[in-house]
Parts: sequence; C-alpha cells; structure tokens
Amino acid sequence: MSTGHNGGIPDEVIEAVLQHNDIVDTVGKYVHLTKQGKYMKGLCPFHSEKTPSFTVTPDRQIFYCYGCGAGGNAIKFRMEIDGLSFPEAVKLMAEESHIPFQDGKGGGVAPRDQELERLLQAHEWTAKLFHYLLKNTEHGKPAMEYLRARGFGDKLIDQFQIGYAPDRWDTLVQFFEKRSFDLKEMEKGGLLSSKQDGSGYVDRFRGRVMFPIMNRSGRIIAFAGRILGEGQPKYLNSPESRLFNKSRTLYNLNLAKSAIRKQGQLVLMEGFGDVIASWDAGVQHSVATMGTALTENHASLMRTLTEEVVICYDGDNAGQAAALKSIPILEEAGMRVKIALLQNGLDPDEYIKTYGAERFASQVIDGAVSTTKFRLIYVKRNYNLLEEDGKASYAQEALKVIAQLSSPTEREVYLRELSTEVGVSLESLKQDCNLMRQTLNRTRPQGQNGNRSSGNGNSRKAQGTPTLLPAYHAAERRLIAMMLQDAEAATYVSEHLGDAFNIADHAAIASYIYAYYAQGKPPDVSRFISSLQDDRLEKTATSILMMDTPHGDSTQVLQDCIQQIKKFPQQKQVEQKREEMLRVEKSGDFLRAAQIASEIIALERQ
Ligand code: CTP
Ligand code: MN
Repeated sequence: MSTGHNGGIPDEVIEAVLQHNDIVDTVGKYVHLTKQGKYMKGLCPFHSEKTPSFTVTPDRQIFYCYGCGAGGNAIKFRMEIDGLSFPEAVKLMAEESHIPFQDGKGGGVAPRDQELERLLQAHEWTAKLFHYLLKNTEHGKPAMEYLRARGFGDKLIDQFQIGYAPDRWDTLVQFFEKRSFDLKEMEKGGLLSSKQDGSGYVDRFRGRVMFPIMNRSGRIIAFAGRILGEGQPKYLNSPESRLFNKSRTLYNLNLAKSAIRKQGQLVLMEGFGDVIASWDAGVQHSVATMGTALTENHASLMRTLTEEVVICYDGDNAGQAAALKSIPILEEAGMRVKIALLQNGLDPDEYIKTYGAERFASQVIDGAVSTTKFRLIYVKRNYNLLEEDGKASYAQEALKVIAQLSSPTEREVYLRELSTEVGVSLESLKQDCNLMRQTLNRTRPQGQNGNRSSGNGNSRKAQGTPTLLPAYHAAERRLIAMMLQDAEAATYVSEHLGDAFNIADHAAIASYIYAYYAQGKPPDVSRFISSLQDDRLEKTATSILMMDTPHGDSTQVLQDCIQQIKKFPQQKQVEQKREEMLRVEKSGDFLRAAQIASEIIALERQ
C-alpha cells in the first residue's frame, strides 16, 4: 500500500472512505438539506444563521458555506462537526463503513496529530485509573461515600466514568512516567502542573471527585474535579488546551445526542451535576456548558441537532439573569426557546431530589414557558402586586415586553392576562401597547421589525458569489478550477505558468495539483482536497470549486487566464514606477524622472 502525506494513512483507505461516504448522506445526518438545482442547501452547522448559505454539491462531493467559508469533503465535514483530527475522522468513518484499517503503528502518523492522539490516550487512561481508584481502593472510600450521599448509584458512576484523584502530588506523574509519557506534554494538556520552582511536575487534580468531559464523539478531552464537601474552589476544571475548548464543549452531548434528535428538543443546564441528575431522572436530552457563559458556538452546535431548546438554569437570581442573556444567543442561531421554571431558587439537581423525577419531567421540562412569559415573570419579581403603585409600575414594564411582539394575536393573549393581573381594562392596555409600538418602530433601525415571536421570518441575505475580484485574482481561481477537473489543463498550466501565481495560496494549491496528477491519479476534487492537509488551503480550494466552470474553447480560456496572471506583476511594477517618477519629479530630479519614464515604456512594451 502506498502512503502519501496524509498523516500516514494509506491513500487506498482514504479513497475507500470517500467512496463509501457520500457527501449528501454524511452531511444529511447533521444538517437538514433541501435540493436546489445542482446543489443541496441547508443551515450551516458551523456558524449561526437563519437563512441557508451552506451548500453541498453532490457532483463534486464537497460542501461549502458562503457565510463562514467552511468547506471541504466528507472527511473534512466529520472532522469539523465531531471535533476530530484527520486520522481520527478517517478511522471512525472506516470503522463505520467496515473498511479494514490499520492505525498508526506501521505508518507513522503526522507529528501534530501524534501529540493529539497521545493526549487523548492519556486522558482515557487517566479516567480509567481514577475510576478504578474510586471503586476499588481505600483511597477512594471517602469519595465513594460522598457520591453515595449525593445519590450516585453504581450504574451512574460507570455510565459517566466518574473517578477519584487521590490527595497526593504524584499519582499521575508516576503513572505517566511508567508509561513513558512526556510530562511536559501532559502539562500542556492540563493533566499536570509544573512546580513553582520549575524543577518538575505535580498532579493538577488532587483529592477530588473526577468527572471526565467528553467531546461529541465520546472521547475524553478534559476533567472537572469536585472537592469533597465544602472548600474552594468547588470545581477545578482542565484548562483550555488543544483538546478542550470550553466555548465549543457541551457536557454530555455524546450521550444525549440521540435522545435530542428523538425528542426534537434539547435541555440546556448550568451544572454538569444537574445533567447527571436529570439523566438519572429519565430526562436524557440535557447538556450543560462547562462553567462558562453560553456562546454562539454552543448555540450553533446545538442547532445541528434540533431546533428547540429548553433553558433549565438554576432557579435563583443569577440563574434567571443568565437565562435572560442566553435567549438572544439561541434565537440568533435560529432556535425556538422555552424556559423551565424552578421554584425557590433550586437547581435541577436539588429539584429532582426534593420533588422527584416524575414531577421534574412533567412540570418543569414539559411545562417550560415561552420567552415572553418568562420575561414577564422576571419583571414581576420586582413589584408588589398587592399595592396599586406596584401594579401600575409592573403594567408599564410588562407592556414594554409585550409591545415587542410582532404578532397581534400573541400580544392580545398576554395583554388579556395582564389585564386580569393588574385590574386594568384590555382596551386601555391595548391602546398603551400600540402607542409604545409606534415609538419602538420609529427608533428601531430599518429592516428590523421587533420580531420577538418564535418565527424566523426576518432574514440576512446570503452572500452569493464572493465580491468582485481583480482580474488576475479571478484568473488564478479559474485556472485552478479547470486544473482540478482536467489533468490536461493542469499539464498545460504547469508548462506555461508553473508556480508563477501571484497569490501564495494559489501557488501552493497548484503545486499540490501537479503532485496529485504526477501520481497518476484521475481528477477527483474530493480526493484531492484530502491531500491538502491544511485548513486554509482546503477552504480556498473548496471556495474555488463553487464557481461555475466556463464554457467554450478551454485552451483559449487557459491562455487568457495565464496572460492575465503574468501581466499582473508587470502592471504592479509599472504602477510603482509611475509613483516613483512623480515623487522624483516633485523633488526636482528630472534626469532620474526621464530615466524611469523610459523604463516604464520598456515594461509596457513587453
Ligand atoms: N463551576 C466551575 N467552577 C466553580 C463553580 C462552578 O466551573 N468553582 C461550574 C461547573 O461546571 C458547575 C457549574 O459551574 O457545574 C454550576 O455551578 P454550581 O451551581 O455552583 O454547581 P452545582 O452544579 O450546583 O454543583 P454541586 O451541586 O456539586 O454543588
Ligand atoms: Mn447543585
């Protein structure tokens, strides 16, 4: 078997993987696609958007997003969506399609990915070690007692691979040394800390109950360690690393994703302890951010699985304020949002312990309210409705919320409720509300109609083709497009232009194309993209492939393009000389100016 520069994976395996994994099927598992001529379109899973700018081209077996520029073949898609390295993605896809695959050992994986692989391996072993120590040793006893007291059964402890890091400085240090792991690398990966005096390494996690954090495909990328009982900090998390990016990680997404798809809904919590309690209570479609505020990335990750989210944050003030902040982020990503209400400042975990699983599922989750209802409840906390003053001020604030709704029916529903609550006639509330809407519409920037309802009506126009490019730039893109689809065109360009592209990335892609055909391979853009192994080049190549191929005499087109490209450096030179000539003239050096003028004429003659 031949191995290219694809992280040591045999080309045959990559080809087989691409053959077995049609781009439409691959993407279709994550994105709802609709056919539109030669393309399939859908909402981009890699950035927040409400109108589809994400395209899949079955003919070429590639995907490309006009909004954020993400693009590539089926392997690339899995890498991005599942957070995998190239070898990981190929391996996983090979396994899924029953393609024989020998990993790493024989065929030297690229160094960058070797590090990633070692870190993943170290995390997996660390989790196993901690889990073992918790369940089977004296060290683990107090932690086990703590977990039992919190209601964690064996099944739960196994399912979430919970463990214990003993209160010692060198449990992991010794473990890694025995297995010849590079301690510095383990420090970078967040499992060890370096000693203050720089003389070596110690365990980062000591005397803590350990919760492994998995990525979407179930690989351990970090840990959260909870102190037994009281103490500070309550939780110690892995630092951000090559593996762990908090703003893209949702706890339990790996286990919850099938339930999320099935239920058509995702429950979003603040604490991962809440997620485990919720899972145990039979609500298995919940996930949590990891001690960080919700980001756009989280939201678009969720949006790849479902359109509806129930925010189930703590019932205290901080939790409710955080919920209020999360609503627009989720709505921007095109999700329908509901809010679960937890009384008495309880968090989901405490609620389940107090009122039971049944009531949590049926009242809290199924009883989640609309965002408007939630805003009204949120505003109401500040007023005493038993007093006339309180009622009047509340009505004023409530009207501000209701006035933002674009649907008259929705407004009427909430106004009716408000009318009973504050004892004001529906008619006068309506009048006030309409007045308020007039001011709202006047102050609001154009195109935004205060649409706070569930509809995703308003839209940002998807960009069609990239903005108009300079002639030489467009010519380079066109050449590459033709070369990718026609080996003879590539030969022609290699002979007449070589690497004399003006844009460095284009020159790089061209040299990859020459190398690709030199191996006797047939044109196949999806395969070619796999040979690039560079995110930026892949994106550029994919965006080039989204252009329409020109018709007509192709040799003529090639010649014209090459001419455009060759002309550019000279044009640039001429421009520079012109500027220089003006400068020299101004300074009075006319002899030099005349010299430059004749140089310009010579250049232009060429
Ligand atoms: N958190 C953290 N670091 C802390 C405190 C909290 O990273 N020092 C994060 C954790 O991810 C935690 C979430 O914030 O799950 C919610 O915090 P909190 O409500 O304090 O934790 P609980 O889930 O209630 O934890 P427990 O029930 O164990 O007290
Ligand atoms: Mn709690």
